[in-house]
Amino acid sequence: MRRPSPKQNEKSLSEEDFIVSKTDLKGKILYGNKTFIKISGYSERELLNQPHSILRHPDMPKIVFKLLWQRIQNKEEIFAYVKNLCKDGSYYWVLANVTATIDESGRIRDFHSVRRKPSTKALQIIPALYQSLVNAEKSGGMQASEKLLNETLQKQGVSYDQFILNLQK
Ligand SMILES: Cc1cc2nc3c(=O)[nH]c(=O)nc-3n(C[C@H](O)[C@H](O)[C@H](O)COP(=O)(O)O)c2cc1C
Repeated sequence: MRRPSPKQNEKSLSEEDFIVSKTDLKGKILYGNKTFIKISGYSERELLNQPHSILRHPDMPKIVFKLLWQRIQNKEEIFAYVKNLCKDGSYYWVLANVTATIDESGRIRDFHSVRRKPSTKALQIIPALYQSLVNAEKSGGMQASEKLLNETLQKQGVSYDQFILNLQK
């Protein structure tokens, strides 16, 4: 499938919207709720069995997804602000919570994500931070963006989790 060209058209979630999806261990989409399908602009058929990166927006820094996969493969949850790309090139921002489902024998069965509307405060801070992380990746790879992210957190004296959740308060 051809990747849509990003447009400056934002789709916003309402306070009541929850976007839910479930993936296999590699991030292939197994389930999406109605809100997920509707906002993406794709049909359910177009989304199922596709890698979740079908929604990847070029403004998203790689380091955020690296952190996400590290956490969930470790059976820990993560909260992350994510900008997603719709089929028509529009975008939408979410605060995603991603976790693993563990089976009876303690192994990871699948991953799922619940997302909601980010706060106004988060939307004032995150786009500029992500832009600098993407720029750092362009010049110095993920090592550079990881360093920049860690320095940003250190300067504020907070952990990644505190930083994300403080923005949502
Ligand atoms: C449960 C789950 C939900 C995900 N949701 C998204 C999402 O909404 N948007 C996105 O770009 N990536 C999402 N990802 C991460 C993608 O699998 C992928 O790592 C990311 O899009 C970066 O793609 P790339 O590694 O091909 O560059 C999700 C992963 C999991 C396990």
